[in-house]
Amino acid sequence: MITNTFKNKKIIITGHTGFKGSWLAVWLNYLGAKVVGISRDIPTSPSLFEELSLSKMLKNYQFDIVELEKLKKTIHEEKPDYIFHLAAQAIVSKSYVDPVDTFKSNVIGVTNDYPSTSNSDVVVITSGIPRKPGMTREELIGINAGIVKSVSENLLKYSPEAIIIVVSNPMDTMTYLVNKSFDIPKNRVIGMGGILDSSRFKTYISLETNFSQHDIDAMVIGGHGDTTMIPLTSISKCKNKLLSEIVSKDILEKISSDTMVGGATLTKLLGTSAWYAPGASVSYLVNAIINDTKEMLPCSVYLEGEYNAEDLCIGVPVIIGKNGFEKVVNLDINKNEMEMFENSVKAVKQTNLALDGLI
Ligand code: LAC
Repeated sequence: MITNTFKNKKIIITGHTGFKGSWLAVWLNYLGAKVVGISRDIPTSPSLFEELSLSKMLKNYQFDIVELEKLKKTIHEEKPDYIFHLAAQAIVSKSYVDPVDTFKSNVIGVTNDYPSTSNSDVVVITSGIPRKPGMTREELIGINAGIVKSVSENLLKYSPEAIIIVVSNPMDTMTYLVNKSFDIPKNRVIGMGGILDSSRFKTYISLETNFSQHDIDAMVIGGHGDTTMIPLTSISKCKNKLLSEIVSKDILEKISSDTMVGGATLTKLLGTSAWYAPGASVSYLVNAIINDTKEMLPCSVYLEGEYNAEDLCIGVPVIIGKNGFEKVVNLDINKNEMEMFENSVKAVKQTNLALDGLI
């Protein structure tokens, strides 16, 4: 998709040398945004962004066919990994369309150079360590909290007006940390997890019902955790028909539990946290902000009484526009889902306690 609305917009990705950050750069590049990827350290192990010269290639379009063949060979022989294969495919296809592309990419990567992030419109924080197979998102808090806090502090010095999207895990707690640590309006801090979880939810619904994902209206709220997210099965619809009237109770439960461990399933398969759909989900959110779409999307935001919860960030439906999230939408969820939401609130608050001393 090529949109001119992104032309004068500057988007920052922190942790751009990681898989999520790299892929987000690819997605945002397609939207036509000026992207600055920033990471804290020169990576000790080659990253997708650096090793495949993603930034160089996107910026200069200078890979020719010979180089691409060499790259493909290296990838197949030395890194026979699914990840690199996918990355290579994207790069190869991107290069093939370059001659007919109508916009110039504008993606750069820097190390610790915060002045180059100045005056940005949106900042996406993906910094920190990803989870490994068998780990929960919550286990990352010890390392990621310090990283997210210092990165945000540096970014806000140069882009005090930016909208901040938090992706680092445990995402709800990291979003809360940014909210509580800095004096910025709550509507400008948005945690991205629910869009991704809802997309996984729609995928599992589609697999069971054969409805196109585009004909499915479904949302996941609550915490972005394997046990805290709540796929809203009671109000999900396929082409305006209630999902609960289309599939059996057992299938409904299966869809729900597959969704909840969707991220963990991918982590197990890939050996690290997912990046492709997370990148796409963040770029969807960035697009909604930049284009002021006023879409209702599930995002982790700071609550002050909405859904009977306060003083935490957790996934709820919000209206997204150019100023961030505009308001929380009250959905008509059933008693059981409300109870699950209350439990999710308790669990996220419990995780937040580990921030003691940092905020
Ligand atoms: C996932 C990461 C983004 O769910 O938490 O894949």
